[in-house]
Amino acid sequence: MSTTLIVHPATKPLVGSVPVPSDKSIGHRALLFSALCKGNSIIRGFSRGEDNVATANAMRAMGVTILEPSPSELRVSGVGLFGLSESATPLDCGNSGTTMRLLTGLLSAQRFGSTLIGDASLTRRPMMRIAGPLRQRGAHIDGAPHATKPGEITAPLRITGLAEGEELRELEYTSPVSSAQVKSALILSGLYAHGTTYIREPTVSRDHTERLLSALGVPLRTMGTLVELDPSGWNGEMQPFEIDLPGDLSAAAFLLVAAALVEGSRVTVRGVGTNPTRTGILEIARDMGAGIAVENGGERAGEPIGDIHAWPAPLRAMRIGGELVPRGVDEIPIACALAARASGTTTIRDAEELRVKESDRIATMAGVLRAFGVTCEELPDGLTIEGSDRPLTPAVVESKGDHRIAMTAAILGLLATGPSRIKDADCIATSFPRFVGTLRALGAQVDVEGAAESEG
Ligand code: S3P
Repeated sequence: MSTTLIVHPATKPLVGSVPVPSDKSIGHRALLFSALCKGNSIIRGFSRGEDNVATANAMRAMGVTILEPSPSELRVSGVGLFGLSESATPLDCGNSGTTMRLLTGLLSAQRFGSTLIGDASLTRRPMMRIAGPLRQRGAHIDGAPHATKPGEITAPLRITGLAEGEELRELEYTSPVSSAQVKSALILSGLYAHGTTYIREPTVSRDHTERLLSALGVPLRTMGTLVELDPSGWNGEMQPFEIDLPGDLSAAAFLLVAAALVEGSRVTVRGVGTNPTRTGILEIARDMGAGIAVENGGERAGEPIGDIHAWPAPLRAMRIGGELVPRGVDEIPIACALAARASGTTTIRDAEELRVKESDRIATMAGVLRAFGVTCEELPDGLTIEGSDRPLTPAVVESKGDHRIAMTAAILGLLATGPSRIKDADCIATSFPRFVGTLRALGAQVDVEGAAESEG
């Protein structure tokens, strides 16, 4: 039986200082890259979100030992760039597009074959964006024809290993989308390629791969929207490392926006990654007028971090588009919650990528907003949302298996005039297993129906 959240209207401010799970994007990369080092790496602060666990299990299936001496620490015995072995079973990427796309880049360069599978949502997501350029450099990748898009492929993906004497070639690729998953898949394949990899994207997507691999001595250079990897002269060795993962701004965003919307609130999220390729949501919230402050800035794992405070202030509508979208791509749903309470009409454009996320987030968000009584209109590449300070209508919402939709709906539920029901909420565990517990710690009243309450 799937879980339903019953979110009660906030009757008091949200107050407190809380942590969030570790950054999911950096967690995937720490796992993959430590497996490719020769020797033992330590990953601290690992959050156990299901997406990251899928990556860990895939690496285990390919012969990497990953021990868990404590709940938030992983010890990865890296096997080196050429030490992975064929998995006896298909690699299950669950709900995680990052796992599937980054692994495809890595596995397309191996001499053994692999099959990658995922859940129903991942099995609908487009994979030509990685298969196309990887094939161009000599990889052998097949997928199932996409149900609705001619010429597109999706999981299960079958990667045939490179034959004796076959090598991946150099690649110069201009990606039509700003996508860290595409960029990272091509960089990973480029570690093994004979020749240089050049990737250009329309605007810079998150750069965690570049930061971490550069710190490990990989010859990567970034020039604006161009990334170059020239492995000639590199010995192919990466030294094991220790990493303290920063908190996930994409998880923090739900709490910060909740604080900006519930009267009298004051919330601090501690130790959150503030990499500028990820901070679109902070700029959106500030531009709309919300109270946001970042302090105690420091660095963790080559990534900027800080404590982020949020509080309410009058909100005004804005236009969200251009380079702000890739820098806040996962936070557009929760930005819609701000827009719903801002004076004026917010327009979101240039966000067609949202249609191919865990759900079609433009369509699902429009449905969620309407369920709460918010007037909005779907555009091919975004939404218009009419903001208002009228209390929201209590809603019954289906998450469509999309964690960020479920969490956004839960935050909107705090602003309604009666209890709202968020159905199919198990998916929240893919990125924020302690979401309900964290909201409760801040003072929200949320009941959980239909599941063992393991998260507290
Ligand atoms: C991610 C990249 C983004 C983002 C996803 C995580 C990553 O996807 O939406 O949640 O870790 O590389 P795209 O690269 O498809 O934009």
